[in-house]
Amino acid sequence: MSRSIVIAVDGPAAAGKGTLAKALAARLGFAHLDTGSLYRAVAAKLLALGQGPEADDARLVAESLAAEDLTARDLRSEAVAKLSSVVAAMPEVRAALLAYQRRFAAQPPGGKPGAVLDGRDVGTVVCPDAQAKLYVTASLAARARRRHAELLARGERPDAEAVRAEMEARDRRDSDRAAAPLKPAADALLLDTSDLSIEAALSAAWEMVVGRIGPRS
Ligand code: CDP
Repeated sequence: MSRSIVIAVDGPAAAGKGTLAKALAARLGFAHLDTGSLYRAVAAKLLALGQGPEADDARLVAESLAAEDLTARDLRSEAVAKLSSVVAAMPEVRAALLAYQRRFAAQPPGGKPGAVLDGRDVGTVVCPDAQAKLYVTASLAARARRRHAELLARGERPDAEAVRAEMEARDRRDSDRAAAPLKPAADALLLDTSDLSIEAALSAAWEMVVGRIGPRS
């Protein structure tokens, strides 16, 4: 069996990595995994069970995640986002979710020839041998603006300042934690999307990926 081609797309909240990863995967005919949805699913289940962020409970939930948990309806809420970065700092939760991510990368579903994984630690921990690694970032102001617009579009009534403060706090939790902190891999290509449209960011990301894995027919 030929080896799967893996593309890692990491970066902070609302930098645009999910949109880019999805579009890159579609263009390449690769499978796509939003690894953040795993941490969000753990958080959503804990909230649904009325449980606090105890490490033992979070680990048990992480160990028993099912496919339908990854597409649950409330995964994108602010409450879930906040708790997801709390459980994501727990080494036992990260360990429970690692094998699934590595299997997805090595044997992409549907027999696809490769996989694009987006998250915080794909290039550093999950798939350190990925053929292409992008670190997608943007200013806090640009990212807070995007998340605010996303929440408005979902019918929520977010307070702009609160969204920005919450995002800053989550960035700090993700970057300062001991277990797999958010940081660019040494061999990652950096893409700042602060002043780029989605199309411009995608075309820059495409050039970077093709530069690493070669042109694909
Ligand atoms: O979409 P957004 O960037 O806001 O968040 P996400 O990618 O869905 O990730 C939610 C949370 O999961 C992050 O704030 C991280 O704490 C955690 N996460 C992680 O620790 N490692 C990953 N590979 C992906 C997400």
